[in-house]
Amino acid sequence: MTGPAPETPDIATADVGTADIEALRKRALTTLTTARERTALLTDCVEDPDLTAQHSPLMSPLVWDLAHIGNQEELWLLRRVAGREPMRPEIDGLYDAFEHPRSERPSLPLLPPDEARRYAAEVRGRALDVLESADFHGTRLTEAGFAFGMIAQHEQQHDETMLITHQLRRGPQALTAPDPVPAPLFTGPSEVLVPGGPFTMGTSDEPWALDNERPAHPREVAPFFIDTTPVTNGAYQAFIDDGGYDDARWWTREGWAHVRRHSLRAPLFWRREGKQWLRRRFGVTEVVPPDEPVLHVCWYEADAYARWAGRRLPTEAEWEKAARYDPATGGSTRYPWGDADPAPEHANLGQRHLRPAPAGSYPAGESPLGVRQLIGDVWEWTASDFLPYPGFRAFPYKEYSEVFFGPEYKVLRGGSFAVDPVACRGTFRNWDHPVRRQIFSGFRTARSGAV
Ligand code: AVJ
Ligand code: FE
Repeated sequence: MTGPAPETPDIATADVGTADIEALRKRALTTLTTARERTALLTDCVEDPDLTAQHSPLMSPLVWDLAHIGNQEELWLLRRVAGREPMRPEIDGLYDAFEHPRSERPSLPLLPPDEARRYAAEVRGRALDVLESADFHGTRLTEAGFAFGMIAQHEQQHDETMLITHQLRRGPQALTAPDPVPAPLFTGPSEVLVPGGPFTMGTSDEPWALDNERPAHPREVAPFFIDTTPVTNGAYQAFIDDGGYDDARWWTREGWAHVRRHSLRAPLFWRREGKQWLRRRFGVTEVVPPDEPVLHVCWYEADAYARWAGRRLPTEAEWEKAARYDPATGGSTRYPWGDADPAPEHANLGQRHLRPAPAGSYPAGESPLGVRQLIGDVWEWTASDFLPYPGFRAFPYKEYSEVFFGPEYKVLRGGSFAVDPVACRGTFRNWDHPVRRQIFSGFRTARSGAV
C-alpha cells in the first residue's frame, strides 16, 4: 500500500454531535473486538500446518491474512493516525497485497502463526490506546472515527476471505454453526415492480461508508421488476437439467468460452451422484437443498441463467433502488428495513450460520416494496461494471477502490452470510472478476417494466 491520498474535506460527513461521538467511539471498540474474536475463531480452529498451507492458488495462507490484518491496523491506526514509528518495517513488504499476488504468498518468509498472533495482538493493544484519545473531529481520517471503522471493516472483509479459504480447504470439518431457523415456506409474489424515476444512490452522511459508496447522487431508473428472493438451487437445477451449460444461446461470448474451456457443469462444490446433486460445504457433503439461494456461481453463470429464464441481471442502480427506495417518502434508507443497524431478525449476517437461509426468510428485513433477503445470505451479482460515482474521490488510499475501476470487475451487492454488519449496508459495493465463484456469490434476476 502506498501513502494516503490528500485530505478531502469536500467529502461531507454527517454533522456529528458530542453524544454521537462517544457512541461512535464505543462502536469502534465493539466492532474491532468482534472482528478480532472472529479472526481468532477462524485461525484457532485448525493446527499450524493448515494455517501456513495454501489451500487454493486463489487464496493466501490463513497466516498471511492474520498478519496482514495486523499490518494494516498498524499502518493506519498507529502510524497514520497516531504518528508512531513502524514496529517491524522489514515485514511491511510481505503483507502488501500489491507487492505479492496471492499465489506467491506461501513462498514468502511469513511470520509463523504464533508470531503473527503476537504481532496482531500487540498492534491491537496500542490501537485501543489510540482510540481512547483520538480526536473524532480532527482530520478527515479520524472524523467520526472513520479510520477505526475502516480497519474494523478491513478485518471483517479478510475474515470473510478466510472463511472462503476454509470452504476450499480439503479435510475434516473445522467450523460449525447452527442452521438458520426454518422460516415458513415463502408463498408471496415471485417478483416486485419498482417504479421508475429518480432516487438517491450512494451516501454522503454514513460516517464509515468507504470511498466508492460516495457521494450521494440522484440516479434515474426506468420501471423494472425484480425477483422477490434470490434464485434458488432448485430453480438453478432446472437450468442445468434443461441443458443450460450446453447451449451457447444463453451465454455471452466470453462466458461461453469460459464454460467450454473449464468444462463447467454446475456451481462450484457441486457433484452429481445418480439423480441427485450433492455439494461440499465446510468439510461436509450433503444433498443440495432446493429452497436455498444458489451459491458459488460466477457472473457468467448468473448472466446465462437470467437469459435462459427470459430475464436479465439487475443493474447496480436497480439493485440499490430496490434495496433503499421508500415510496412513502421518496428517500433512500440505509437498509431495506429502514435506518436501524442490522439485528438478527433482519438478515443472515456475521457467520452466525454457515449457509444461506431458505428463499423468503427474514420477513422483518424486507424492503418497503416487499423485496426479501437483499442484505445477507448471498452476495448478488449485478449487470454492472465497477465504476466510480460522479464526484468520487479516492480516500484514504487509491488501492482500496480506484485501481479496480473498469470493465474487468463486476459489482456484487448485499453481502453474504459471511459478512459482518459493520461491512454491510444498502450502499456497500463489492466487486470481483466475472469468472470468480469461490466467493459466496448468488444472484437474483430482473426484467424491464412497462414504461
Ligand atoms: C472489497 C472484497 C474486493 O478482499 O480484495 C481487503 C477488500 N481490500 N483488503 C478484497 C479488501 C483490501 C476487497 N474486496
Ligand atoms: Fe487487505
